[in-house]
Amino acid sequence: MLAVALATVGVVLGTATPSSAMSAPAGGAPTVAAVAAPSVSRITGGDRYAMSAAASRAAFPTGTTAPVVYLVSGTSPWESLSATPAAVRQGGAVLLTRPDGIPPDVATELARLSPDAIVVVGSTASISDAVLSQARPYAATVRRVAGATRYLTAQALVRHAFPAGEVTTAWIATGTTWTDALVGGVAAASRRAPLLTVDGSATTLPATTVDLIRDLGLTSVTVVGGPASVSSGIEAQLRGLLGATAVSRASGSDRYAAAAQINRLAFPSLSTGSAHVATGRGYVDALAGAFLAGRTKRPLFYSQPYCVPESVRPSLLAASVTSVVLLGGEASVRSTVGSLTGCRSIDAASSLWVLVNKRNPLSPKTYVPSSLVVPSVSYPNGQRLRSDAAAAVATMFSAARAEGAGRMSIASGYRSYSTQYSVYWNRVSTHGQAYADVWIARPGYSEHQTGLGLDVAPVGNASCSSHTCIGSTPQGAWLKRNAWRFGFVIRYESGYTSWTGYNSEPWHLRFVGGALSAGYHRGGWHTLEQFLGEPAAPTY
Ligand code: DAL
Ligand code: ZN
Repeated sequence: MLAVALATVGVVLGTATPSSAMSAPAGGAPTVAAVAAPSVSRITGGDRYAMSAAASRAAFPTGTTAPVVYLVSGTSPWESLSATPAAVRQGGAVLLTRPDGIPPDVATELARLSPDAIVVVGSTASISDAVLSQARPYAATVRRVAGATRYLTAQALVRHAFPAGEVTTAWIATGTTWTDALVGGVAAASRRAPLLTVDGSATTLPATTVDLIRDLGLTSVTVVGGPASVSSGIEAQLRGLLGATAVSRASGSDRYAAAAQINRLAFPSLSTGSAHVATGRGYVDALAGAFLAGRTKRPLFYSQPYCVPESVRPSLLAASVTSVVLLGGEASVRSTVGSLTGCRSIDAASSLWVLVNKRNPLSPKTYVPSSLVVPSVSYPNGQRLRSDAAAAVATMFSAARAEGAGRMSIASGYRSYSTQYSVYWNRVSTHGQAYADVWIARPGYSEHQTGLGLDVAPVGNASCSSHTCIGSTPQGAWLKRNAWRFGFVIRYESGYTSWTGYNSEPWHLRFVGGALSAGYHRGGWHTLEQFLGEPAAPTY
């Protein structure tokens, strides 16, 4: 299986599916556009090399041949940024290798592809001669293409794959930003055109680049990134060389928006088919999958590990995207990306997804949520929650009862800054600060202050009626299995103190909404820190 089919879009509890992206015009009914949810597949492997081999198998299914394979370093992207369009131009594949040897998965794929030629990309600083030797049994011709710098390596790759006079256009990106260069490389590859990398901070192009542009016979170029990436001086020089209208530029406010804009320019009238999505936080999956995207002339986008940025989402919701191909495993891109869940802030105190921990206090620490209500549950104890969390708790408690798990009450819901202050300092005075700090958040650092966190106690059990023993009750067991169905996560699980900073609290639920809780559950995550791709927060 090359691309393992995942559940198609649409999960429990209002997961952001394409339909939820449809806007409601002021005062009118929601616009229901006829956009079918794209199917979702994933290309992944046990490690980056297996992932790379999987991308190759997807690009070259049984019965197709790869005349050439470009071997690029799997541990640094900088000499490989121009390899994708070069490989694609020659009808070939790109495979990642360890710098000091060809990994078994890659060797197996080389044997399967049985190319005529292998190009080892970059200097010995990127890939050792041992790789060159190990590659020899797999192809009649094995050669290294490299230059003294990443820019000269890029030029050598372009000259190697693009004979003079055979292309008229190219893409130019800075050699210091892999996000721009890899998406620009897919754009270029889709046109069977080259990607030139330059030192974008320089005010002019080096003579070697000017020579290359002339030798290739380019009549137009697309500059990737804004002037901070590739200088206005370089753009002006290109206009001087090629003509004022021969230079376009694609940029965005961040890497996600920039990629979306590059794709808009590169694929102005995209036919229906796939879109590739890789994390924007690390180059490995994008590098491994870029040639597949370029070969199939389909765009590559970046996402956060757990959501699709608003600058990208419209492109993935477009009618032309009938399937989303996630590049990398759950650790790189969660299923919430496949379901096209739009990003929300993890910093804003009022955000459903706010990450509150010992590294991330609420801003301001005295934040007070609006819409606090007492939930319609049998035993609210006067505790309030944000209205969205309150509604979900009521539904959850009813379901628990209906499913035979028994009754529950809210032991503690929203806490003001001053309440949290008292709870914390009381615990410090009775048990000392070290003890208090693994059980109670300092004021300004508690999820309870968001109105999204609550402590649940069992009701009607002979042996336990306090939240502190809920872990050993049917209610606790039910919550552990089912809270996600209602938009909650068990925030502080046993064994994850080094991530959360707190001991196990099977009673403390955090409302994050159904889209996130379903993805969290499906992916087998245990802390919000890890799910959101944020650092551990063991201490203040
Ligand atoms: N018990 C949790 C950590 C809080 O005080 O918010
Ligand atoms: Zn709590």
